[in-house]
Amino acid sequence: MSTNAMMNLTYGLFMLSAKDGEKDNGCIVNTVSQVTSAPNVVTVAVGKANYTREMIKKAQCFNVSVLSEDAPFEIFTRFGFQSGRDVDKLIDFSDYERTYDGVIYLNKYANAVLNCEVTSMRELSTHTLFVAYVNTSKVLSDVPSVTYNYYQTNIKPKR
Ligand SMILES: Cc1cc2nc3c(=O)[nH]c(=O)nc-3n(C[C@H](O)[C@H](O)[C@H](O)COP(=O)(O)O)c2cc1C
Repeated sequence: MSTNAMMNLTYGLFMLSAKDGEKDNGCIVNTVSQVTSAPNVVTVAVGKANYTREMIKKAQCFNVSVLSEDAPFEIFTRFGFQSGRDVDKLIDFSDYERTYDGVIYLNKYANAVLNCEVTSMRELSTHTLFVAYVNTSKVLSDVPSVTYNYYQTNIKPKR
């Protein structure tokens, strides 16, 4: 078993967002994949400790903001390095809008938004795998999507 082999898989990066009553939240994920196109179905794996997972389990819907190469590191620290259980991630932040169901998405630093409805869930050891229909989607810009490799090389500060 080579961990290096697994590191040769490629990924995009996304802001996965949900709503629980009046509470908005979202986190950074790399695990969104389109699995069928007709119907248009995606999967996303979300860690069991993540507040976003709990919110999606409850509301059964979420948005995926497809992050673009102009996303600054601040987007990753805001949504990926702290939990919505502890902080309001939208404080001093205005680069978002809402889909018809009230769920937030990024209107800057993202080149598309997918509005999704959960159809099934599978509990894995550390994560919940959500399977969801893409109800609506919209292109937001023509800036290329950020890959995990691009993030590591160009966005994440070097130590
Ligand atoms: C580059 C990057 C990729 C990440 N990918 C995932 C992922 O695929 N699944 C996941 O559950 N968390 C992932 N995370 C971690 C979550 O974004 C992080 O745990 C977040 O603080 C959870 O916030 P929440 O508790 O408000 O949901 C990633 C974080 C970063 C910075």
